[in-house]
Amino acid sequence: MSTVQKYIDDNIETFQKELFKLLRIESVSTDSSKKDDVKHAAKFLAGHLKEIGLDEATLHETEGHPIITAKKVVDPDLPTVLIYGHYDVQPPDPEELWETPPFEPTVKNGRVYARGSSDDKGQSFTHVKAVASYLQTGTKLPVNVTFILEGEEEIGSPNLIPFIEENKELLSCDMVLISDTAMFGEDQPSITYGLRGLAYMEVHVTGPNRDLHSGVFGGAVDNPANVLADIISKLKDKNGVIQIDGFYDDVEEMTPEMRDAYSKLPHDDEAYKNDIGIKELHGEKGYSTLERSSARPTLDVNGIWGGYQKEGAKTVLPSKAGAKISMRLVPDQDPRSISKLFTDYVKSIAPDSVTVEVKEHHGGYPVVIDLEFYGLKAAAQAFEDIYDKEALFSREGGSIPIVADFKKILGVNSILMGFGLTKDALHSPNESFSLKDFHRGIKTSARFLELLPDYSE
Ligand code: BES
Ligand code: MN
Ligand code: MN
Repeated sequence: MSTVQKYIDDNIETFQKELFKLLRIESVSTDSSKKDDVKHAAKFLAGHLKEIGLDEATLHETEGHPIITAKKVVDPDLPTVLIYGHYDVQPPDPEELWETPPFEPTVKNGRVYARGSSDDKGQSFTHVKAVASYLQTGTKLPVNVTFILEGEEEIGSPNLIPFIEENKELLSCDMVLISDTAMFGEDQPSITYGLRGLAYMEVHVTGPNRDLHSGVFGGAVDNPANVLADIISKLKDKNGVIQIDGFYDDVEEMTPEMRDAYSKLPHDDEAYKNDIGIKELHGEKGYSTLERSSARPTLDVNGIWGGYQKEGAKTVLPSKAGAKISMRLVPDQDPRSISKLFTDYVKSIAPDSVTVEVKEHHGGYPVVIDLEFYGLKAAAQAFEDIYDKEALFSREGGSIPIVADFKKILGVNSILMGFGLTKDALHSPNESFSLKDFHRGIKTSARFLELLPDYSE
């Protein structure tokens, strides 16, 4: 075994303790009352990158949360890998459903439970420890590395795109390495070669100037909650086909080869249903579960409100109602055009009895990475060497919008080397990450860096 791999095995407990320190920091990017905590996590990481021996470890202030960069150039002729991760996390809500406190990392059955354990502190920290293992053992890094860690991924990376544009030289690289996705299954390494894009909308329906007595006014005045339900019901038909005019115009249809590749991936609908506790699956006719959840676009209500929500019955006709609606996009849909189509469609079906406003939130472009890219091959080999199992290639339904921007601005592909699992419960209560995968992740990352020069053109 190489010195670096042995160092990782010998020091895994220390690495875990360091990760737990990071997990204790409540870096919830969307919560303005946590701004100092997000900064604390940024400082912790910038300090850590410096401590392990990287050069130019810098905390860059932005209008929002800080971006951290650090680098090690060993030889300009060697490939340069830009390692991206995010240290911000989703809110822990609903907090009462956590079995252990969300910011007190707790180990149970070989898994660490904490918000951000998988998404993305635990996963991104694997690369920090892999690079540290080279530097700490005095082993020459096989490639040049640059780190870029952001604190705004969960809120749409508003300050990262301008940062990349302004720092092209600092970030110039041959590829981006990201661990912020899931593996296909337990002990089944996989490389994600596609991610969906996102268009996120908010619809507000306003009726009378105040909540009204539903007996006194009901029947004579239109009800914003009823209207909202009607609008939502017209966004999709019974078979899950989105009804917005022009929505599918730019969707790249799957080729027979793609569908064939999908059909060969191990997947069991029964286990899938059992895991999430549902009786029947639902979606576009003629597509499999894996296709529906990663290669086809979707539309879903993410939140809905209006009227009386507390205990008991209050007879009221609400003055306002609203909903948050996301659309996951696939190549070649453009989030900006889709947002406009959504707005136009909703306005066209809105009755005059109420006022309907449509707001647009952050979005992102979908990506599919060329399977011929040599970086993917090196990543697959690294996985196989450490997990002792051939890696699968799959597309995923989630979004990491910055991947498309890395391609657009820096002209490079990303390698999505996920170490998470669907059961990690990302964004849900009781998020967790397997410590075995944390360990194997560090080893896979170190192995990947070692293999890469042999694969580069
Ligand atoms: N790490 C996730 C994305 C992800 C998870 C991709 C699992 C594939 C598999 C990321 O942190 C995330 O949650 N992204 C958001 C988008 C963002 C713009 C808020 C998402 O997908 O909802
Ligand atoms: Mn993430
Ligand atoms: Mn996330």
